[in-house]
Order: sequence, then structure tokens, then C-alpha cells
Amino acid sequence: MDGNGRWAEARGFDRSTGHREGAKAVRTIVTRAREKGVQVLTLYAFSTENWRRPKREIGQLMTLLTEFLLSERTTLLKNQIALRAIGRPADLPKSVTRLLNALMADTANNAAMTLNLALSYGSKAELVDAFESLRKQGGPIDENRIEDALQTRGQPPVDLLIRTGGEQRLSNFLLWQAAYAELVFTQTLWPDFNSDHFDAALDEYGCRERRFGKTGAQMQGATP
Ligand code: IPE
Ligand code: MG
Repeated sequence: MDGNGRWAEARGFDRSTGHREGAKAVRTIVTRAREKGVQVLTLYAFSTENWRRPKREIGQLMTLLTEFLLSERTTLLKNQIALRAIGRPADLPKSVTRLLNALMADTANNAAMTLNLALSYGSKAELVDAFESLRKQGGPIDENRIEDALQTRGQPPVDLLIRTGGEQRLSNFLLWQAAYAELVFTQTLWPDFNSDHFDAALDEYGCRERRFGKTGAQMQGATP
């Protein structure tokens, strides 16, 4: 979710207005993903690097997050969506952590879709934590054990990664999990990103040939 600040600045508004509009886009896209039968939707809401932003902007983001957790409760329950936080949510203000934990517990058994909120998330930090826990357990390390030690344990790998706002980089997001993800980059700023944009990204994903290292002919079943 990138481009909130630019969206606001282009209109002469405070960046916080962009974040507020961005929160509306979150509602739209969560609803659309659920309608489309997406199993897991992960939103990169706040990175470990975002702590470097001005205190005021961080405070506004935390307020918005609080409002989101309060307002989306009924929607998540009604639509059978399980909430999960990835990252280091313990870094967040206590009041936010409490709300987050309560909502995660209340939605834990919802099976239609999982909504991962990446909060104080950094993929490198997640990997370090995973390797450290494996080191303590001992024994040989393999890919399955690493996957089970990540915060996305039990979830499928990322199929499609969409980045809004025109940048073409991963910015420390799900580096392991997105190893074979199809990447879609769009100029659209996050507050403008709507259901049509989301559908278009899904359509583009549908047109990609995913070979996982094999040849096109192998994937077609023409050759073994
Ligand atoms: C939202 O967009 C990302 C968050 C950290 C919430 P930005 O705040 O990065 O917007 P730009 O990139 O400055 O436009
Ligand atoms: Mg940005």
C-alpha cells in the first residue's frame, strides 16, 4: 500500500488525509479479495523502516489503525475473515496491541479468508527470528522447517504481489514467501486503488505463465 502521502500532497492536503483515504481503499480491497475467493491477503501497512517517519505521522497511522480495528470487527466476523498480524506487533502502542490481540482471537476460527496485516514488519527481521528459533531447536535446517518458523506458517506461498504508487521494489516484504510470486507494479496511488484495479491485477496474474523453473513445453504437458 504505497502512495498515500503523494495522493494527499498532490491535493494540498496533509499526509494524514492520504492515510485516511488509504484506509478506505483497504476496506474496498479486503471486500473485493473476499468476493474473488482469495485465500490469504497480506497488506503491508507499516514496515520496520516506517518507524523513521516523523512522530506525528506515526501517531496518525496508529490512530487510523485503532479506528480500523474497531470499525472492521463486524465485517470480519460477518465475512468469515480471520485476522492475523505479522511483524513485531509488540512494537506498537499497548492499546493497539490489545485491540489487535482481541480481534485476532475473535476471528481465529474464520475460514473463508485470512487477512494478514504486516505491522512493524520487515522480512529480514522475520527471517532472523525464524533462523534463531531453529538454531535453538537444533538439528538440520531445510525449507519446510524454515517455512514453519516464519510468521506466515501454514499459509501458501505468495502467488501475486501488487505494489501501488509507482515504485518497483520489494522493500523488505515477504522475501522468502514471494520467491515465485508474480509481481504487478502499478502507478496508481493506494487511495485510488479500487476493485477494478484489483480485478485487473488478478487478470494480469491469470495471463502469466508460471513455470517454476520448468520449460513452457513441460508446463503444457507436451514433454516430461
Ligand atoms: C502509505 O503510503 C504507506 C504507509 C506507510 C502507510 P506512503 O505514506 O508511503 O505514501 P508516499 O509514498 O509518501 O506517497
Ligand atoms: Mg511510500
